[in-house]
Amino acid sequence: MAKIEVIGQGECEFDDQFSMLEALDENGFDMPYSCRGGNCGACAVRLISGEVEEIQTPIYEPGEGEILTCSVIPLTDVVIEVI
Ligand code: FES
Repeated sequence: MAKIEVIGQGECEFDDQFSMLEALDENGFDMPYSCRGGNCGACAVRLISGEVEEIQTPIYEPGEGEILTCSVIPLTDVVIEVI
């Protein structure tokens, strides 16, 4: 199981939830989001390390080094930072 670490908040396991956002939500993390569908960009975070895979094709294009937690799952242990 991949581990998700949110800098300044702690870490949790990814347990086959639909998205990284859902895993973080379930584990009580205070993550920003709005649409959950890759449209708004509210869930963008900085990917510090690790690899992710897109589970839906977002309309919103995240900045360099950023990912949309609603639209990816972790493939490896990841470290992210809320921006
Ligand atoms: S919550 Fe809107 S793009 Fe992720």
